[in-house]
Amino acid sequence: MSRKRTVVLISGRGSNMTALIAAASDPTYPAEIVGVISDRANAAGLGIAQSRGIATKVIQRADHPSKDAYDAAIDAALAGFGAEIVALAGYMRILGRGLVEKWQGRMINIHPALLPAFKGLDTHARAIRAGVRIHGCSVHFVTPEMDDGPIIAQAAVPVMVGDNEDTLAARVLKVEHRLYPLALGLVAEGKARMEKGHTVFAHFADDADNATSVVMAPDPLREETDLEQLARITP
Ligand code: GRF
Repeated sequence: MSRKRTVVLISGRGSNMTALIAAASDPTYPAEIVGVISDRANAAGLGIAQSRGIATKVIQRADHPSKDAYDAAIDAALAGFGAEIVALAGYMRILGRGLVEKWQGRMINIHPALLPAFKGLDTHARAIRAGVRIHGCSVHFVTPEMDDGPIIAQAAVPVMVGDNEDTLAARVLKVEHRLYPLALGLVAEGKARMEKGHTVFAHFADDADNATSVVMAPDPLREETDLEQLARITP
């Protein structure tokens, strides 16, 4: 099996990037992380990537005369890494249509909300204000509209009484770190792919014991009674 060469784009902390690097340290994982690009020179994730022996590159918008020139620099760096898949992980810029369309179906992003709800920033504060009882995160293919591409995988967490933005963010982040490696794995293996604006899944029935399918259909959801239990999260 050839592992898909994956480049991660970050802007800051890099905890999702770290989760992807950890997953890819297993030689049987279908993607390898071959480079990390940050638009900020002081992103904490850069040091983490370097300490894991991964090549990094800083490409700052301010160093480029136009948005197009910036996008071209990103594209050139991706080519330099021989990227086959691009994973945005806390990358805070919106890439231009040309670049996104070029990478369509091969560029994915993690968003800290259950899309299509709460696109954009401050998702956790907005979820609390909206009074939703269930929140979570989504991994989706990137399309030119922000946080709008076809969903590959989602994970839900309850919003607890007394939650604030930080406690909720921490609960979501934990599941982000499980979800993103799962979703990248699906894309790298060709089990999830983008077709005509939708995510198409390959058949999972033949590997029911495989960890991927277990996460796709978590054990509790295999029984009707457990579905009822889940419904009780919503009073
Ligand atoms: C994560 O919550 C991610 O979903 C969002 O930005 C945050 C980045 O965190 N897009 P980290 O840099 O991966 O730690």
